[in-house]
Amino acid sequence: MQKLEVRGANRLRGQIKISGSKNASLPILAATLLTDKKVYLKNLPKVKDIETMIKLLESLGSKIQFEKKNLIIDNFKQNKKFASYSLVKTMRAGILVLGPLLAKFGNAKISLPGGCAIGTRPVDVHLKALSKLGVKYKIIQGYIHATAPTGLKGCTLSFSKISVGATENLIIAATLAEGTTILKNCAIEPEIKDLVNFLKKLGCNLKWIAKRSIKIIGVNKTNIISYSVMFDRIEAGTYLIAAAITEGNLKIKNIIPNIMKTEINILKKIGAKINLKKNEIHIEGRKKIKNMKIKTAPYPGFPTDLQAQISVLLCKANRNSLIIEDIFENRFMHVSELNRMGANISINGNKAFIMGNTKFAAAELMATDLRASVSLILAALNAKGKSVINRIYHLDRGYENLEKKLKKVGAKIRRVN
Ligand code: EPZ
Repeated sequence: MQKLEVRGANRLRGQIKISGSKNASLPILAATLLTDKKVYLKNLPKVKDIETMIKLLESLGSKIQFEKKNLIIDNFKQNKKFASYSLVKTMRAGILVLGPLLAKFGNAKISLPGGCAIGTRPVDVHLKALSKLGVKYKIIQGYIHATAPTGLKGCTLSFSKISVGATENLIIAATLAEGTTILKNCAIEPEIKDLVNFLKKLGCNLKWIAKRSIKIIGVNKTNIISYSVMFDRIEAGTYLIAAAITEGNLKIKNIIPNIMKTEINILKKIGAKINLKKNEIHIEGRKKIKNMKIKTAPYPGFPTDLQAQISVLLCKANRNSLIIEDIFENRFMHVSELNRMGANISINGNKAFIMGNTKFAAAELMATDLRASVSLILAALNAKGKSVINRIYHLDRGYENLEKKLKKVGAKIRRVN
């Protein structure tokens, strides 16, 4: 099992280029099932979850190859409709092939994703909305057996709760449904906007008609296209926090600051000095870190995927802070490991009370999920001495070349077997 050794504490200085977004790439890869024409995708991050989604598409009959910086997906002969537990259990976004398979073939058998460290991850919102489009389904031995006997029929529906995955599944399915679909109470994360831009380029007919409502008119013609996925705003936010916690000075490049207003404003309030350019953010960490009360929320609120990371920074604040995790039911798995490093965080339900003025001490640590793992690295960058983070396969799911990017700006970090 691989682990990471991190020797703190030292200031990070230099430039970090942000990779493509894992959470934009996954729905776009699933959406390639809609077309039998070749799709050329660029800027996909080289992370485990993308590899898993490629394996899942290949198991469905997609022909996929890499050519220079392009991933070429050819679904001309794609004809399988079974997504196995072995693939979907390690990457819950596998559920995103349900919508396109139903739209294309009218039937699919997909493993229920199952839970993970951060929560039970149900898919009831996906299934309830799909049934409004005429889908019938049964859950048999952990698999969703879904059919659309008379094809998908457009309708107007409002999601029972804001769900990124359910919004993506339904947008993809509705692009081939008969007639017009209006989806209300949609999630509007930038990754969803990126998916919609991809589908429009593919030849689908979609239009945002209100902040959280989108109108989709079914089409049956698609084009051969090339598309470059957007940057990873969670990776970018993670490195902004790395600069803040090491009193460092970083230029974060290949991003669109306008998409990250909430995070940038929070970091400014905490005390970081931030300058924005068209495609980069220049951040300087300061000694004085101000305490905050932060509640996670659907976009444009503060992202749950940065909650663990900002919690580490707030341990260094001059007074106590409060974090309210309002999206997932169990996303404080990093807290016990941070407390072993000297933090003083107490949890009550979905609230984490963070004492300030923490002096992190290096320790041997255990990663539990993707974002918790990176929060341990942030703490280790601030702690004097050598920390070791185990089970870093969690990290490899969503951060491309993390050690390389951090080493380049002065972090003492290395992977050991
Ligand atoms: C997406 O997960 C992201 N994953 C998550 O990022 C992210 O944390 C999450 O959105 C929220 O922003 C990808 O994009 C691949 P949801 P998703 O459906 O779609 C509940 C990371 O670290 N819910 O918006 O699964 C659900 O349990 C990952 O990159 C239902 O109850 O999130 C959660 O409490 C982690 N029923 C809340 O809604 C459903 O049918 C939000 O989930 C669906 C969701």
